[in-house]
Amino acid sequence: MEKKYLVANWKMHKTMQEATTFIERLLPQLDAMHDHPLDLFIAPSFVYLWAIKTLINGRGFIKLAAQNCHHETEGAFTGEVSAAMLASVGVGSVLIGHSERRVNQQEDNVLLAKKIKQVLAAGMRPLLCCGESLEARKEGKHKVIVQQQLQESLLDLTPLQVESLLIAYEPVWAIGRGQVASLEVITEMHAFIRACLLNYYGMLGEKIPILYGGSCNSQNARAIFSCPNVAGGLVGGAGLQEDHLMQIITVLLEK
Ligand code: PGA
Repeated sequence: MEKKYLVANWKMHKTMQEATTFIERLLPQLDAMHDHPLDLFIAPSFVYLWAIKTLINGRGFIKLAAQNCHHETEGAFTGEVSAAMLASVGVGSVLIGHSERRVNQQEDNVLLAKKIKQVLAAGMRPLLCCGESLEARKEGKHKVIVQQQLQESLLDLTPLQVESLLIAYEPVWAIGRGQVASLEVITEMHAFIRACLLNYYGMLGEKIPILYGGSCNSQNARAIFSCPNVAGGLVGGAGLQEDHLMQIITVLLEK
């Protein structure tokens, strides 16, 4: 069975009580499903990672993801969280280069390359987010931008490291707006990203899962997941309520 991926990026939402209640409600529904090829990543705030890890209690198909990490191994970086710290509490994957961080924290491709190295060195899977702004798309530069994001952040990786990569295509203009990309755009950009990965890594590039993110919800998920080269989704808003998330999981597993 082909592996499916769903990432719920909670961003800066939920209190501790809300986070744990969400997981407590989700678990029985997930436990009732059998023989599925799903990897579900929950990406809460750093401060709930350990509590959620405890609740998940060894269920292998639910993974913990962090929303960010620092680009240095350790040191005098007040307020920052290292990749090794995340790995030590059981985090399996780290989002790198979400467009909100690219814009709000001015994270560039060179910095993201360092973060990816840190995540890999700590034995976790980097989930690199790429995607063009509305301006870039209007100027016809969407492919150039995405190619640059991939090329400049994915440097000098060993075959083993390549196998642990996850990519999310998230057009900035589709995130958090309820304005999902068209199926033509999703198909075209996922094929383009696949071609880039094949170009960098040969046949290994075929295996890297490419997820779609940007206003994906239970209504549009079926169409999105039926596009070629879409291995799953990265959801923000639709991942904040367990019933919506469960509906998306159901659709994803139908494919
Ligand atoms: P959205 O967010 O699903 O709310 O558009 C997606 C994301 O930011 O990754």
